[in-house]
Amino acid sequence: MLLDRPESAPGVGVITLHRPEALNALNRELMTEVVDAATALDRDPGIGAIVITGSDRAFAAGADIKQMQPQTYPQTYVDDLFGDWDRLASLRTPLIAAVAGHALGGGCELAMLCDLLIAADTAVFGQPEIKLGVIPGIGGSQRLTRAIGKAKAMDLILTGRPMKVDEADRAGLVSRVVPAADLLEETLRIAATIAGYSHPVTAMAKEAVNRAFETTLAEGIRFERRVFHAVFATADQKEGMAAFTEKRRPDFTHS
Ligand code: HXC
Repeated sequence: MLLDRPESAPGVGVITLHRPEALNALNRELMTEVVDAATALDRDPGIGAIVITGSDRAFAAGADIKQMQPQTYPQTYVDDLFGDWDRLASLRTPLIAAVAGHALGGGCELAMLCDLLIAADTAVFGQPEIKLGVIPGIGGSQRLTRAIGKAKAMDLILTGRPMKVDEADRAGLVSRVVPAADLLEETLRIAATIAGYSHPVTAMAKEAVNRAFETTLAEGIRFERRVFHAVFATADQKEGMAAFTEKRRPDFTHS
């Protein structure tokens, strides 16, 4: 895994999956590194968006099959195999997946765990676990179904077929599709835009959207209203609205 804070994108931390010999297959070590790095970036007050990306060839070709093959049920249960990935979903900072090439199995699940998914025109998604005699284990059966509906989720999970980016875009899996050559630059631009807003308010906006997947419409709207009222307790609400009135750029202090 590589960690970077590019000067061209203030407030953005970039985590690059880097196991080129295995198409970024997600083994335990990589999971721990990525989750720890993302948690540290989340706690850094200077960071307002986190990008997770891979290589041109693969975002990640799934959980590491060779590492999983000898595992027994008691081991996977006691160790809560891949349970640590859940920690990413509870981070406050917006997470952005920048996906080129294969995003399969755990790779697709990691991308779906992020808040935005920017895809290169080379991206291929899929949940091929069924071909290995297993099922998705990092949220795929739930997040894919919520993202693209039962009909397509069943198709992908039961046949294991890959889905090219055009179909993924039509199905609503991805936020934007960009040319492969521009993937990182475009993603950094989007990430820097988000990081330039009030960090507490972007975190609240993210939490409100995510609540839509957890609750009823009435409860979700009540939650949104409470959080909406809460933003009036921030200095950034005063600043953002004052800047509009005074026809200048806001200077958010993330407070
Ligand atoms: C371990 C992997 C791997 C994986 C690729 N490699 N995917 N190693 N785990 N998931 C390794 C290959 O063994 C090979 O190493 C090297 O990466 C290059 O891969 P190739 O197969 O030679 O490349 P290519 O012919 O281009 O095919 C690319 C591919 C294919 C279509 C992506 O590698 C593939 O089908 N990979 C597996 C995809 C998959 O089934 N993912 C789901 C995993 S299960 P060597 O040393 O042999 O050259 C999963 C479960 C999640 O994710 C839930 C957990 C509970």
